[in-house]
Amino acid sequence: MTVDDRFTKSFSETREDRPLGTRNAPVTGPVEDWATDFSHMEPEWAADPYPIQDDLRQRCPIAHTDRFGGGWLPVRYEDVAAIAYDTDRFSSRAIIMSNFRPPKEIAPIGGAPPISSDPPFHHDARKLLLPAFTKTAVGRQEPATRAFCHALIDAFDGRDVVDAAHEYAQHIPIRVIADMLGFPPADGPRFRVFVENTLEGVNLPPEQRIERMSALFDYLLAQVHEHLDNPRDDLTSYLINAELYGHKLQAEHVVGAMALLLIAGIDTTWSAIGASLWHLAKNQADRDRLLADPALLPTAMEEFLRAYAPVTMARLVKQDMQWHGVDMKADDWILLSFPAANRDSAQFDRADEVIIDREVNRHAAFGLGIHRCVGSHLARMELRVALEVWLDRIPSFSLADPGAVTWSAGQIRGPRTLPLRIG
Ligand code: HEM
Repeated sequence: MTVDDRFTKSFSETREDRPLGTRNAPVTGPVEDWATDFSHMEPEWAADPYPIQDDLRQRCPIAHTDRFGGGWLPVRYEDVAAIAYDTDRFSSRAIIMSNFRPPKEIAPIGGAPPISSDPPFHHDARKLLLPAFTKTAVGRQEPATRAFCHALIDAFDGRDVVDAAHEYAQHIPIRVIADMLGFPPADGPRFRVFVENTLEGVNLPPEQRIERMSALFDYLLAQVHEHLDNPRDDLTSYLINAELYGHKLQAEHVVGAMALLLIAGIDTTWSAIGASLWHLAKNQADRDRLLADPALLPTAMEEFLRAYAPVTMARLVKQDMQWHGVDMKADDWILLSFPAANRDSAQFDRADEVIIDREVNRHAAFGLGIHRCVGSHLARMELRVALEVWLDRIPSFSLADPGAVTWSAGQIRGPRTLPLRIG
């Protein structure tokens, strides 16, 4: 067994050395006024957040909540962009709004660098990841991704109704990122649980939430040890050996970046593929157009990403201040809704319509500013291949039971049950 002193402590042991963050009691239950008590965890938001956001844009464009220990929800594009670009006043120390705020001492690395890092460290941590996610690097994953999509459809085995979220969209990003990190493909089902615990368990008591996160970090640590024994050409070995400022990365940096890559790519891309198929199942005219003119797919994809942007991020306010007319307090959350920005009619013509040949489409689905998505080429490749293979194999499909479609609550929104009638 190869020993590397950086990786001898388990996640639970590392945690014991750290100061505790701020914890708040969970507040759950229906929302009466979204302007003063918003919650992205409620079923009404999961089912259809757009009318809520449109209403807020008219009457209270920076909504407030006391839930999660206090936070703000800007719904105008210009406000979302201003916050995303303003790293002096808004920190990425935590990017999932929950009842737990991590202590300032976790800076500059944070829990999952570079997404949890602020400048100047952010720049260097991000730079380490870029070579693995260039268009060329991502292109190397395309043949395997395509073959995998075909295999998933082969497994439908002639059935009339399939769950496109569960049986198709979900598996694609899991397999791709497992291959890139060098994890066993058979571990895929465990990744789902890790992702749920990270993104959806936000109203759990903080102790329970941290306990669940330990499972993810202990799994990643086991993968690090396996790679120390059997180094190979993948992202895990790359991160173990990577250097910053003349030293190998700290253990928290290696494992945090692995956690980010695992979590960031799965629910996001799953949601984007699922939402696109949901749209095409409901809109025969758009489907027919894409079948007649496959060259339109890249443009249509950007429109699906704009209209059904899956990812909302969070920030923490750095210090008490007046911001665009509201009184923000240090450590208030900002729920940074790129989906709401993408539906702002001050920024996009006919913002509430899905126009698959929209010509100008500078959407914010991949974020804005220094944290803009590192995996955007990979995400676009997966989305394009998933849709190309589906449309080629299953040109005719519709919602089997519109009432049975479910959407995830929380910061990553996409279909989680999507029964489609095929053929
Ligand atoms: C359709 C799919 C995806 C969407 C919509 C999406 C969206 C986003 C957004 C909005 C951000 C900005 C976060 C912020 O401002 O705090 C982000 C960051 C990031 N994404 Fe993605 N993402 C997707 C897929 C992926 C994939 C497949 C990967 C790689 C496996 C990935 C890796 C990352 C990383 C590493 C960051 C952090 C960048 C930084 O902090 O500098 N994403 N993504």
